[in-house]
Amino acid sequence: MSDPIRFYYRGEVHEVHDAAPTRTILQHLREDLHCTGTKEGCGEGDCGACTVVVGSIENGQLELKTVNSCIQFLPTLDGKALFTVEDLQQPNGALHPVQQALVECHGSQCGFCTPGFAMSLWGMYLKQDGKTPSRAQIDDALSGNLCRCTGYRPIIDAAQRMTELPRVAFDGDTLAGELRGLQRDASLDYAGAGKRFHAPRTLEELVRLRAGYPRALLLAGSTDVGLWVTKQMRELDDIIYLGQVEELKRIAERDGMIEIGAGATLNDAYAAVCHYYPDELSELWQRFASLPIRNAGTLGGNVANGSPIGDSMPWLIALGSQVVLRGPDGGRVLALEDFYLGYQQKDLRPGEFVQALRVPLPHAGLRLRTYKLSKRFDQDISAVCAAFAVTLEGGRIARVRIAFGGMAATPKRAAAAEAVLAGRTWTEDVLAEAMAALEQDYAPLTDMRASSAYRMQAARNLLRRFWIETRPADPLPREAVNAFALGGNV
Ligand SMILES: Cc1cc2nc3c(=O)[nH]c(=O)nc-3n(C[C@H](O)[C@H](O)[C@H](O)COP(=O)(O)OP(=O)(O)OC[C@H]3O[C@@H](n4cnc5c(N)ncnc54)[C@H](O)[C@@H]3O)c2cc1C
Ligand code: FES
Ligand code: FES
Repeated sequence: MSDPIRFYYRGEVHEVHDAAPTRTILQHLREDLHCTGTKEGCGEGDCGACTVVVGSIENGQLELKTVNSCIQFLPTLDGKALFTVEDLQQPNGALHPVQQALVECHGSQCGFCTPGFAMSLWGMYLKQDGKTPSRAQIDDALSGNLCRCTGYRPIIDAAQRMTELPRVAFDGDTLAGELRGLQRDASLDYAGAGKRFHAPRTLEELVRLRAGYPRALLLAGSTDVGLWVTKQMRELDDIIYLGQVEELKRIAERDGMIEIGAGATLNDAYAAVCHYYPDELSELWQRFASLPIRNAGTLGGNVANGSPIGDSMPWLIALGSQVVLRGPDGGRVLALEDFYLGYQQKDLRPGEFVQALRVPLPHAGLRLRTYKLSKRFDQDISAVCAAFAVTLEGGRIARVRIAFGGMAATPKRAAAAEAVLAGRTWTEDVLAEAMAALEQDYAPLTDMRASSAYRMQAARNLLRRFWIETRPADPLPREAVNAFALGGNV
């Protein structure tokens, strides 16, 4: 027996019965429904041609978010609403202000990217509630959309123009009512093409399913796993989807820590930590992938995937964060750095999963910085990502934790450099010793993103930059040492 996948689409409840669990939303739209407005470019979440808006009920409230349909599996839509570019045109045939603005501002040439831009703009239009977006809001909303021929200026003009046109209201109340009616009391148990897709609704149910299906793959935001299917052509086992477990999305402050459920989206998780560390982490938040990827991807997925070039682990480790694991025998808590045993190896026992991350709140004297080096400002993977956390007491380094991504097979602390710094006065001589000690900590690889020599030089220089920003005498403000703060988005 299999439950159908049910979602709200084009004004009615749409059911799917026999698609493979890894069939993407984009494949279903284009190949099954022949609804070809949504385009396929890269098939890996990078270009935004496939952008759609998904509506869901989160903590009782309606949320509407842009996501990349090319890497989202169809059963993840169960209980949600799907909006595509075909939904924008009004019943009387008039263009939506988003489309009208793109026409008036000449925001399209070949038109291939246009449906994706229109959906990103519509996602912003819904949020703006009639207010003209700022340039920063526009840049962020469009950070996941590439255009090869028009150029971005007319599209940015359209983003401003759309709110000047007669407003088209969106009936969120009716949609919320429809979606509430679609929510299941129990887990979704879907089968298609010989594979199962389970979507538990509670933590207890997840524990039980995880223990019952030890070979099943855990799926969160699908921004890593989706590519295993679309790019690596991997056949996946049965899937257990975490996205319907409300308890995994909770974010709360307790015992001097922010506890972030593993299923909280990257956007929600970064919003929470940036509330406490606004100057230190906001740039990384903005530069983590793109808005649609951050709307789907989770902090738990970033940590559990454990990529050596993931962006969250360096600052999480530098702050002394903990990972909360849950399994059939209960829970346990590890320092995050102890979770990583080797390349793609984690301290996860059979039946265990990541339940939450605990991030310490700021304390007196703490200086935290994180720096991402990549070839582009937006939507790019780091060559090196560094995080430094030093607690200064009257110019002396009372506590120090340094972690790097891109320098080893796992996200890794710089033990030798930390040993040089601990208890010393934060001077340029001590800095020079610590910079030299980084050679003992890391032997980075050469790959397509950077050479080993570049990575080592960059790591040393980032430590120097941290010193320049935090030295007791005459520290330079961020604006004085940050190319983006100096010159805008270059
Ligand atoms: C276009 C693009 C840009 C990107 N840019 C960046 C970037 O700038 N910086 C960066 O760090 N990453 C980036 N990524 C990678 C990805 O977005 C992140 O790693 C993301 O956090 C993964 O989370 P997810 O929820 O999508 O995980 P999924 O893809 O669903 O899962 C990833 C892995 O984690 C496991 N998993 C997920 N949740 C749990 C859990 N709770 N317990 C145990 N195992 C679990 C899954 O089984 C799987 O092995 C990018 C990806 C794309 C496609
Ligand atoms: S097709 Fe490029 S992001 Fe989906
Ligand atoms: S209009 Fe051709 S790619 Fe954007």
